[in-house]
Amino acid sequence: MKAQPIQKSAQRDTNFKSTPTTVFSWSGHTLTAAQHLNDIVDADFFRIEPAEPYTTNYNEVVDVAQAEQNANARPALAQTVEDWDSYSTIYLGFPVWWYDAPQIVKTFMDAHECTGKNVAVFSTSGGSSTESCLGSLRAIAPGATFTRSVTIDGDAASSQLTQLDTWQAGLGL
Ligand SMILES: Cc1cc2nc3c(=O)[nH]c(=O)nc-3n(C[C@H](O)[C@H](O)[C@H](O)COP(=O)(O)O)c2cc1C
Repeated sequence: MKAQPIQKSAQRDTNFKSTPTTVFSWSGHTLTAAQHLNDIVDADFFRIEPAEPYTTNYNEVVDVAQAEQNANARPALAQTVEDWDSYSTIYLGFPVWWYDAPQIVKTFMDAHECTGKNVAVFSTSGGSSTESCLGSLRAIAPGATFTRSVTIDGDAASSQLTQLDTWQAGLGL
């Protein structure tokens, strides 16, 4: 069965956008950031979601995330993005999990070829930098051009959204 997009802000047949905002968010901070970014860039919008939802219990998800990272696991995606090849620039957002991108984001990168595309990464965290995540993403997508990234304080995401405006404006995309 062909997978369907999770959520789209645009009707692609009548209003094609060349850029998607793609986001994984567990507790909502990165989703808030992604929605703000999407207002700026007016892009198609996709949520990255696992086929088997993560537990909503914090202590449990901390353990699950560490186990997935230790195993370099690739949890299955609920859905993939249609017409991925038509996009040239991707905004990719996620929370920092154990100083790296969540493994579900790596599954997403495996499943969506980024060679020749610009990938602009933003994340929210409790203090870690998005930069600590880029090494593993570059290894998965060596043919992508990763732009400067930005990190938002997760707990203060709502009050730091203007950082995204400044960051996006400076990318020259
Ligand atoms: C499993 C897990 C691992 C985390 N690891 C880190 C980390 O390594 N560094 C950090 O600064 N914050 C870490 N955090 C905090 C989150 O990055 C932060 O709360 C983020 O804003 C959550 O985004 P979300 O609401 O979009 O899921 C972790 C949180 C969880 C649940």
